[in-house]
Amino acid sequence: MRIGCLYHSHTGNTDSVLKTLQAKLIDHTVVLAQIKAKTSDPSVADVTLTEVPSLEGYDAVIFASPVHGFNLPHVTQVFLAQLSELPDVPVMLLITHYFPFKWLGGHQGIKGFKKVLEPLGANIVLTQSIEWRSKHRTREIARFIDAVKKRLMADAHDDH
Ligand SMILES: Cc1cc2nc3c(=O)[nH]c(=O)nc-3n(C[C@H](O)[C@H](O)[C@H](O)COP(=O)(O)O)c2cc1C
Repeated sequence: MRIGCLYHSHTGNTDSVLKTLQAKLIDHTVVLAQIKAKTSDPSVADVTLTEVPSLEGYDAVIFASPVHGFNLPHVTQVFLAQLSELPDVPVMLLITHYFPFKWLGGHQGIKGFKKVLEPLGANIVLTQSIEWRSKHRTREIARFIDAVKKRLMADAHDDH
């Protein structure tokens, strides 16, 4: 299957999780499509995107982002705001955040994605937030990768 990861990563954490996913999902094609903006300053709200990844051509899509100020970063928000429709494929959500409690970042990030994607009819099959400073980080990343694998396997069976 062809999986599109549409994501923003300011300091590289989210990017590294997706690169690990790409390396582990050897039976699939994982495309890393990063959303990019003119400025990398996270405090700038009036963001101009320079790279807007397409959602076309994938069997599943992963939206991923860090959390900035208890919300999705401006870059992620501006990307989501310009979406008008979604392909009819399973959608997965990944958040990386720093603070020790998911309610200090992880939950808001997932909620921020859902607020935009659900009205567009997204079939959200998996959500995961990864707490970066946790001693369980490696385990959480492994759990995410495992969950994605299982989900893709289930979808592949449904197709036959
Ligand atoms: C400007 C800024 C604001 C942030 N605000 C939060 C926050 O509200 N809650 C949180 O848990 N982490 C916060 N973080 C930490 C990032 O979400 C976390 O380090 C994430 O893993 C970074 O991912 P990235 O390296 O892919 O950009 C913030 C980081 C930055 C730079």
